[in-house]
Amino acid sequence: MSSKVADSLIERIERRDIVFGIVGLGYVGLPLAVELARAGYRVLGYDVNRRVVDGLNGGRSHVKDVADAQLREIGDRFTATTDAERLGEADAVSICVPTPLSKFKDPDVSFIVAATESVKRTLRPGQAIILESTTYPGTTREILLPALESTGLKVGSDFFLAFSPERVDPGNPRFGTRNTPKVVGGITPDCSRVAVALYQPAIDTLVPVSTTEAAELVKLLENTFRSVNIGLVNEMAIVCDKLGVDVWEVIEAASTKPFPIDPHYLAWKMRGLNYKTRFIDLAGELNTEMPLFWVRKVTEALNDRGRAVRGANILVLGVAYKRDIDDIRESPALDIIRLLEQQGARVSYHDPHVAAFSENGHEYRSVALTPSTLEAADCVLVVTDHTAIDFHLVKRHARVAVDTRHVLPRGD
Ligand SMILES: NC(=O)c1ccc[n+]([C@@H]2O[C@H](COP(=O)([O-])OP(=O)(O)OC[C@H]3O[C@@H](n4cnc5c(N)ncnc54)[C@H](O)[C@@H]3O)[C@@H](O)[C@H]2O)c1
Repeated sequence: MSSKVADSLIERIERRDIVFGIVGLGYVGLPLAVELARAGYRVLGYDVNRRVVDGLNGGRSHVKDVADAQLREIGDRFTATTDAERLGEADAVSICVPTPLSKFKDPDVSFIVAATESVKRTLRPGQAIILESTTYPGTTREILLPALESTGLKVGSDFFLAFSPERVDPGNPRFGTRNTPKVVGGITPDCSRVAVALYQPAIDTLVPVSTTEAAELVKLLENTFRSVNIGLVNEMAIVCDKLGVDVWEVIEAASTKPFPIDPHYLAWKMRGLNYKTRFIDLAGELNTEMPLFWVRKVTEALNDRGRAVRGANILVLGVAYKRDIDDIRESPALDIIRLLEQQGARVSYHDPHVAAFSENGHEYRSVALTPSTLEAADCVLVVTDHTAIDFHLVKRHARVAVDTRHVLPRGD
């Protein structure tokens, strides 16, 4: 049941009849404040730095991505203040304070804690609070929620709490606050609904996720992805150096057709030169362990239904090594099938591109994907994401489905 408080807040949001508070007017908070004001909200920016506040109220931006002309354009729809008490005027508050790492690389959430204290002092029914700072998973639920509920107000009915990671890329001429899709996860469904409604007028694309933890992890995955890729290219630079090859020539040529050369060939070559490729080996190790990981998931899913793997009918969807092709070489699906059969499962498969194959002396033939095949299976394991597979049918008729599509390494 949706709360009346949420409905009436959303109704006022739709009329732009709210004050949007921003805590922290830096690289993240200021561009956000500008977009929100452009969308028609009255925006109140709160910052502890008086110089920043005075500058902004005087029409001077300290953030490169925000021109003074933009401040002029939004005019008196934006005001900055150093007075935390004024946060009580805001119907929604986005917290955009810094989250540095300490000397020992521990997260320093002291700015989040301080900002939460400011927000808490003026928290009132009908307010929505959204954390944007990059932080560890659990921060919104473990730090903000108890602090805000200590006022006696209840999340989801009195006030709303969500996490929405900022994704700014300062200096990027193509992507700014407005056209970078924004991920939002609330503590309750109403919290998500309110947060999405708040950003909708200012951001082109919103991506709701089911929890605050998921939203927190989205940002960390993005950062980790970037870090691993940078590390990988650094490793490639060392490899190239040892082989006397220009790394940039290799990267530029490789990027014209973006699928990797077999990394293990390279690892083997480098071993001969007494160099251990740590990233490649680590990625290889992780990837090799994934089929076992998913077999364990199948075991757990069956166990939840009081079934053993031995004697269970398992239907594997997709056996090719990637979507919409007929190549099964190096496919992790084959490892999964082997491991399940070793445990006594009866495995069949469906793949629109692979009519039959033989492996370890067994002949396999694709079965038709029908409601009755799905219903006869104790577990349906989705391995390859073929466009030709009718996943709606699977959803409707599979009793237990384990979906490995997005996680299994494939040679693409
Ligand atoms: N700038 C970037 O490129 C970037 C990119 C990705 C993520 N982030 C993340 O975004 C968040 C904000 O970063 P930023 O770059 O905007 O920081 P910033 O240092 O540019 O701005 C933060 C502002 O918050 C103010 N502030 C600090 N404590 C406050 C408090 N208790 N109350 C009110 N105001 C307070 C500071 O005075 C400052 O003006 C961080 O979590 C950061 O990790 C930033």
